[in-house]
Amino acid sequence: KTARVRVPASTANLGPGFDTLGMALSLYAWIELKEAEQTAFHLYGDEMNGVPRDKTNLIFKVAQMVFREAGVAVPELDISMYSDIPLTRGLGSSASAIIGALVAANTLIGSPLSDSKLFDMASAIEKHPDNVGASLFGGIITAVWDGRHAKHLRIEPDANLEVTVVIPEFQLSTSKAREVLPERVSLQDAVYNVSHASMLVAALASGRTELIAEAMSDRLHQPYRAALVPGMTEILQNAHHHGALGVALSGAGPTLLALTDRRENRKAELEQYLTDTMSKQGINAFVLKLRPE
Ligand code: HSE
Repeated sequence: KTARVRVPASTANLGPGFDTLGMALSLYAWIELKEAEQTAFHLYGDEMNGVPRDKTNLIFKVAQMVFREAGVAVPELDISMYSDIPLTRGLGSSASAIIGALVAANTLIGSPLSDSKLFDMASAIEKHPDNVGASLFGGIITAVWDGRHAKHLRIEPDANLEVTVVIPEFQLSTSKAREVLPERVSLQDAVYNVSHASMLVAALASGRTELIAEAMSDRLHQPYRAALVPGMTEILQNAHHHGALGVALSGAGPTLLALTDRRENRKAELEQYLTDTMSKQGINAFVLKLRPE
């Protein structure tokens, strides 16, 4: 028996929706699981260097969680993975591996677990629901998670919405990018984020893309993370002068994400602006032009 899945990358937060909002992107990982006599790994793609090829591998471990949860024993697996999603850059590579492993393992044993159960498990493994929710359900999602159960609502992305990401060459771990966040925030900053995240969700749901630039503003995480990503402050302030509808740190970074309108033909200008700004800071970066998935 074989199960094969294609999982999209994702961006989390979209600015003010820290640990809440996610969007699936047209960049993918493929995972295949087969029942086997002996566990073996076939990991393809530049991004797979350094990924463990023994039973400490995340995909193997997550698959075993599914089998345990379902009360089924599949002790040995032949695991193949190919990924185009850059690792540790804020594009949800670990979330896509987790979702790929959960869905493929569940499919392998006849899908006894519901998507909602898989979402609960994925949120607990990842410790936040935004990337895994987007990878699992696609589109734009708004999620709530109480530490046990995760719920989501999917928003259909506007047909004209496109995404440009600028990916710096250096890696930034989520844990490092969470360590710089304060334990407490002021009521003023909390209100700022609730109001902006609410406006952003309403704007995305109703196709009011002219409201996105202002609504994507954030005070909970981006101001603290800016020190970790050279060029970020400048890009957050000025990308809308170069054709971006709105701009944010993608997840925990270091990738920056700009939303654009397909009908506005300024992607070359935006790409140039993003890479120039990074390179002025001495950072090599490359741009990918994507769509919401
Ligand atoms: N919401 C998470 C964060 C996403 O910003 O830390 C990390 O991938």
